[in-house]
Amino acid sequence: MNFTGKTAISTGAASGMGLLFAQSFASLGGNVVMCDVNEEVLNEKVAEINILNKGRAIGVVCDVREYAQVCAARDKAVEVFGRIDIVANFAGGTAVRMRKVDRSEYPEFPDVPIDVYDWGIDVNLKGPFYFAHAVLKQMRKQKSGLIINIGSITGQEGDGYGIDYPTSKAGLMFGLTKSIAQFGSPYNIRCVCISPGPVLTRTNMANMKTLVGRAADPQEIIDLCLFVASDKGQFINGENIMIDGGRNAMGRWK
Ligand SMILES: NC(=O)c1ccc[n+]([C@@H]2O[C@H](COP(=O)([O-])OP(=O)(O)OC[C@H]3O[C@@H](n4cnc5c(N)ncnc54)[C@H](O)[C@@H]3O)[C@@H](O)[C@H]2O)c1
Repeated sequence: MNFTGKTAISTGAASGMGLLFAQSFASLGGNVVMCDVNEEVLNEKVAEINILNKGRAIGVVCDVREYAQVCAARDKAVEVFGRIDIVANFAGGTAVRMRKVDRSEYPEFPDVPIDVYDWGIDVNLKGPFYFAHAVLKQMRKQKSGLIINIGSITGQEGDGYGIDYPTSKAGLMFGLTKSIAQFGSPYNIRCVCISPGPVLTRTNMANMKTLVGRAADPQEIIDLCLFVASDKGQFINGENIMIDGGRNAMGRWK
C-alpha cells in the first residue's frame, strides 16, 4: 500500500488506535492531520512521525464536541495539504470510564450525573457527525473521499451502565455510516464503519472473551482501516465491518 499524495485526518490521535493509524498512514507515505484534546502528547507524537521523514504530520488541538474546532481542523488540513482524502474518527470511549465515575458512589444508570452521558454522546456520536458535516463540503468539491467511523461490539451488545457508548456506537455503525454513503455516492465519497471487539490499547481488554480466545493487537484493526482506504478496498461502502475475533457470533457462550 502506498498513500503518497493522500491526506488523512485522524481524531483521538494522541493515543491508542488514532495514533497508530496516523503513524501507519504516514509510514506508507501519506500526510496526516492529527486531532486531539491532549496538546502536549499530540505535539510529541507529531514530532516523532516527522523525524522519520516519510509522510508529513501536523497536530491540531481539536475537541470533536465543538463544531467550530472541527471546521478549523478541516480548514487547516486543506490549507497545509490542499485536500482531505480520509477522515478516521477514533476519538471516543465509554464516558463512565473516561470521566472516571466511581461506581460505588453512582451504582446504576439513573444515578450517574447526566453530564457524564452528555460527554459520551457528544464525543462518540456528535463528533463523527460534526466531522462528516464539515469535511463533506471539501470532499464534495474534490469529488472523492472516505470517512471511516469506529464502532464497537458494544454497539451491538448494549451495556446496562455505560449506556451512552452503545447508543452512540450503534448510531455510527448503522444510521450515520449508511446515510453518509448515500449522500456521498454522487460525489465518489464512501463511508465505512469498522467495529472492533476487545483491543489491547488497554491491558484489561484481554478479559473480554472472543471465539479466537484473545483480544486484538491494535495493528490488526488499523490494517483493516488501511485496506479499506487503499486501492484494493474501493468496493467496500456503506458497511459496518465487525473485527472482533468472532465475539458477535458467540451467543450464549459468552
Ligand atoms: N480499545 C478497545 O477495546 C476498543 C474496542 C472497540 C472500539 N474502540 C473504539 O476505538 C476508538 C479508539 O480507542 P482507543 O482504545 O485506541 O482509545 P484511547 O483511549 O487510547 O484514545 C482516545 C483518544 O481520544 C482523545 N479524546 C478524548 N476526548 C476527545 C475529544 N473530545 N476530542 C478529541 N479527542 C479526544 C483522547 O485524548 C485520546 O488520545 C474509540 O472510539 C473506542 O471507542 C475501542
